[in-house]
Amino acid sequence: MDRITEAVTCTQKQENTSGNICLCTESLCLSYGTRAALENVSIRIPSRSVTAIIGPSGSGKSSFLCCLNRMTDLSGSTTVGGSVHLGEHDIHRDLGKNPIALRRRVGMVFQLPNPFPFSIWKNLALPLTHHGVANKRELSGIIEQVLRRVGLWEEVGGRLRDSALTLSGGQQQRLCIARALVLEPEVLLMDEPCSSLDPLSTKRIETLIGQLKDRYTIVVVTHDLAQARRVADHVALFWNVDGVGRLIEQGSAARIFQHPQHELTTTYLEGQL
Ligand SMILES: Nc1ncnc2c1ncn2[C@@H]1O[C@H](COP(=O)(O)OP(=O)(O)OP(=O)(O)O)[C@@H](O)[C@H]1O
Ligand SMILES: [Mg+2]
Repeated sequence: MDRITEAVTCTQKQENTSGNICLCTESLCLSYGTRAALENVSIRIPSRSVTAIIGPSGSGKSSFLCCLNRMTDLSGSTTVGGSVHLGEHDIHRDLGKNPIALRRRVGMVFQLPNPFPFSIWKNLALPLTHHGVANKRELSGIIEQVLRRVGLWEEVGGRLRDSALTLSGGQQQRLCIARALVLEPEVLLMDEPCSSLDPLSTKRIETLIGQLKDRYTIVVVTHDLAQARRVADHVALFWNVDGVGRLIEQGSAARIFQHPQHELTTTYLEGQL
């Protein structure tokens, strides 16, 4: 068995993760057309904590996130195998007909802030009205609450009718987090949420992640290992093995950073690529 294969087979023998498991995949595979992008990913994501997904470019981290709320359905050529469980429900078998309802429970924030080209208020009101909240006073109450939760109320509470595009990049990203939270999801997926932000805005988002984990299960993809050390309770390392993304190692952040079990993890953490 070569070095990488040996590391990959060890993913089956990871430490038990204490606490409730919110999301769990079993032998998850993903192909784009005939090209495999992910193979045999079995991961356990504990509730109300932060799991950082790390690994080199092209190792399937974003693809993996997209499997967790079936964003993969949106690109016609994808095939998914294995299973993804949210709590006790298989997201394909049990929630098969209703990916919109699934995405309400598993929200997503992308690398580049992507507010709608409308007012700040409308960015947050739209998902709510779409899901049946029509009363204006109720809308305003929820919008204020969610803006306070992401630390934006003080900054934008007096200009809710301004275009969201007039906000700074960091403010736009916090607005996008607010938009993902406005429907009270259980899980928040974040794909490199700070990669376009300056260090101060990054710090604000990291602080926010630390506050949000009391209420939400957070899965964050990051290339920034220092950030993973700062925010993560759990870590999973992905690797591109012969062109296919594989899970190499998962565990508590303390264990992975202090005592990685696999050579690839050590190599990656030491930056010896
Ligand atoms: N929509 C798509 N159609 C076809 N191939 C795709 C698609 N999205 C991703 N891929 C391929 O799947 C593989 C994994 O890509 P993915 O974006 O998941 O990697 P990543 O780990 O997020 O990389 P990065 O760190 O650069 O963001 C790559 O080979 C990529 O080209
Ligand atoms: Mg990516």
